[in-house]
Amino acid sequence: MIDKEQLGNLFNEAGKIANKAYSPYSKFRVGAALLCEDGTVITGVNVENRSFGLTVCAERNAIFAAVTKGHLRFKAIAISTPDSPEPVGPCGACRQVMGEFMPAECSVIFGGSNSEQVITTVGELLPFDSLHELRK
Ligand code: THU
Repeated sequence: MIDKEQLGNLFNEAGKIANKAYSPYSKFRVGAALLCEDGTVITGVNVENRSFGLTVCAERNAIFAAVTKGHLRFKAIAISTPDSPEPVGPCGACRQVMGEFMPAECSVIFGGSNSEQVITTVGELLPFDSLHELRK
C-alpha cells in the first residue's frame, strides 16, 4: 500500500504535467501520473483532436506510455483537473483500462484546483470487474 504523502506527491506530479495538455477544444486540462511498481513515475495528458472522437484522455495516455516502456505493474495513479475546482473522476473508458493493468486495491487520487481530493481504489471505481482470468 502507498501512504497519503506519496499519493499527495503523485498528485502534484499530475498537476504539473496537466500544463502540457493539448486541449484547445474543451479548454479542460487533465494530467495523470502513474506510479509503477519499481518507483518510476510515468505521466500523461489529454490530447484532443479536431475530429473530437479521436481525443485520448490523460489516464490512458499515461498507462499506454508506461506499457510501451515495459511497465506492467502499477501501484497508484493520480489525476489532476486544474480547470475544475472540484475533483473530476476518470471516465468509464479509462476505468476499464485501469482495470486491465491495475489490481482492485491500487490507489487512485483525483482532484481539481481546490484543496479537496478524492482518494479511492480501482476496485471502487470499477466494481464487479470480470474476465481477469483471460490473462492467465
Ligand atoms: N478527459 C481526460 O483526460 N480524462 C478523463 O477521465 C475525463 C476527460 C479529457 C478528455 C477531453 O480532452 C477533456 O478532458 C474534456 O472532456
